[in-house]
Amino acid sequence: MSEAKEIVLSGMRPTAGRLHLGNYHGALENWVRLQDRYRCFFMIADWHALSTMYLDTSALKDNVRELAIDFLSAGLDPERCTIFVQSRVPEHAELHLILSMLTPLGWLERVPTYKEQLRELEEREVATYGFLGYPVLQAADIIIYKARWVPVGQDQLPHIELTREIVRRFNHLYRPVFPEPEALLTEARVLPGIDGRKMSKSYDNYIALGASEEEVRQRVMAMITDPARIHKDDPGHPEVCTVYAFHRVYSPDRLAEVEADCRAGRIGCVACKKELAARLNAALAPIRERRRLLEQQPEQVAEILEEGSRQARRVAAATLREVREAVGI
Ligand code: TRP
Ligand code: SF4
Repeated sequence: MSEAKEIVLSGMRPTAGRLHLGNYHGALENWVRLQDRYRCFFMIADWHALSTMYLDTSALKDNVRELAIDFLSAGLDPERCTIFVQSRVPEHAELHLILSMLTPLGWLERVPTYKEQLRELEEREVATYGFLGYPVLQAADIIIYKARWVPVGQDQLPHIELTREIVRRFNHLYRPVFPEPEALLTEARVLPGIDGRKMSKSYDNYIALGASEEEVRQRVMAMITDPARIHKDDPGHPEVCTVYAFHRVYSPDRLAEVEADCRAGRIGCVACKKELAARLNAALAPIRERRRLLEQQPEQVAEILEEGSRQARRVAAATLREVREAVGI
């Protein structure tokens, strides 16, 4: 390698079970594109999942494997990036501990997601030490690889900002060990759920990345369209239609015709949905095929995570040696 590539790190919590198209277009698709341009680390954040799921951990290991399969079937390539499991790199925990010593409580209490979540997740008992420290652990995840870029969604910006504050404080107190990371925001292609709301596991309005052809067809047929269209030849309004929002992503070459036919009442919603389902199924076929192969080879998935975690650990351990020296411990 001639010129060192800039480092990218991102992660997802293995909480949701299988990823859906919202997660794919919102994040994963972008990660796949970053693989060659940057030195990428992609993490399955199982400790972060524990912060809200510690009461029932029975699904955690399965969720880790499922998320790994989603990563791989979406096109993350272990030859071109490092895919690892957070808890297999215990150095994150040591750095988290050290960072927790120098992070003022006030910084954590004012993270906007913290108070919100505390209210929303009350029944899940997140009023814990670990949950307050969630963004400190996230900071450790990022800076232990000296990452420059963190591809995340808008919702994570306060965590990246806090990471930068922690870095500045560390570098100032001891010595400049860490670069300041920045969020790498890309225009994510936003897909609504099949009911028109945000696509979300909890609304059950999603299409799973690994959905079967039949599941895709059923979910597309259940999509809400323009409510003003009652008869097939009523003029439609594609801008309010969920099916059309999907056509934007999956049928760019047909978009103008779909729009014109809809507005003129020349195409029925059922036909329009059938066309979309066919498009979606064609687009998802390679992902589905990779998932099928990976599901047949659980040892291979385990091996990829093991090797990725080994690679990550080598980098993390080297940073931690610098940290210990800088801190004087
Ligand atoms: N908090 C992130 C989320 O909920 C997941 C995450 C954990 C993460 N550690 C990270 C993201 C480090 C980016 C970098 O989506
Ligand atoms: Fe939506 Fe297509 Fe029906 Fe128009 S024809 S309202 S774009 S499903």
